[in-house]
Amino acid sequence: MKNSMKGFLEGHPGLRYTYFGGKGGVGKTVMAGAMALWFAQQGRKTLLASTNPVHSLSNLLNQNVFGKATEVDEGYGLHALEIDTRETIERSKTEIREKVNWFLKFADIPTKAEDFVESATMNPAFEESAMFENMIDLIVADQYEVYVFDTAPTANARRLLGMSKVYGLWVDKMLQSRKEARETRIKLSFRKKKEEEQEDPLLTYLASFRDRIDQMRELLTDDSKTAFFFVTLLESLPIAVIKRFIGWFHDFGIPIGGVIVNEVIDDSQLDENTTQFVLNRVEMQKRYLEEAQQSFERILGMVSLLDNEVKGVPMIKKVMSALFPGS
Ligand SMILES: Nc1ncnc2c1ncn2[C@@H]1O[C@H](COP(=O)(O)OP(=O)(O)O)[C@@H](O)[C@H]1O
Ligand SMILES: [Mg+2]
Repeated sequence: MKNSMKGFLEGHPGLRYTYFGGKGGVGKTVMAGAMALWFAQQGRKTLLASTNPVHSLSNLLNQNVFGKATEVDEGYGLHALEIDTRETIERSKTEIREKVNWFLKFADIPTKAEDFVESATMNPAFEESAMFENMIDLIVADQYEVYVFDTAPTANARRLLGMSKVYGLWVDKMLQSRKEARETRIKLSFRKKKEEEQEDPLLTYLASFRDRIDQMRELLTDDSKTAFFFVTLLESLPIAVIKRFIGWFHDFGIPIGGVIVNEVIDDSQLDENTTQFVLNRVEMQKRYLEEAQQSFERILGMVSLLDNEVKGVPMIKKVMSALFPGS
């Protein structure tokens, strides 16, 4: 029972934020869907959310959930949402533009904000940071009991979280140097009183930003509230990917729920007519299952390869039954 998804969840009754990592195409979105349906079936108010620029929830659910939290048909009250990342990016650009403009004016620098804004927002990290912001917004809004996030493939998810640490450090540095600059200015100023009374809006902004990041980091590293699950196939590369991934997460102190093995070929159906092709695949899977069992502390679920792609709630329910056997 300990090494099962059900057992894990029973041991973590306060779990609120779940994520799925693994190589592309291994079934992260499918598992997120199955997990979210399970929570909803348990009567918990659940949101299945995607903050990736490339969404797949509408496709998985066979229902449009883009831009607005939408109740999933026949989904035990589950809501799903694909966040419009482009809108967030535009909003962030506007915010950055305002802040840069304010700063340039404050520092008396006669330059157009636009150049800074372009260089700040043209890099791929910006998109990730927008995704991260979206996730934080959802969590802070606190409208659901459980959040199941369909995360981006491996490296992105790690950076997303690693970023929270980097953000914190960066903001602390900024705060420190702003404080020093301010103190120096006050010391040098003849109109001491006035300077002292004047609030530094950038300082205020940075401080509130850091608090938000700190709060987030606390949530993301709290193993009673948060868990990352890793999905793999019984193949070399997907296993190698999550081995590395788990190592990183250990380093970041991010709580690891366990591993889900997906697309296992059901060998109870093999007979003398089974083709060599299938027999070879089954053999291969046996080898990799041994490797997985040796490498991973907790394999929480094994899901069979279904005879069709997983699309629509009835199919997701099949995966859910495999992930939570006997329910
Ligand atoms: N157990 C399964 N049986 C059959 N098809 C599956 C299974 N798990 C996933 N799939 C299919 O594999 C493809 C990739 O799954 P997906 O969840 O989109 O992967 P990821 O999100 O990791 O990129 C999809 O077409 C999905 O329907
Ligand atoms: Mg996916």
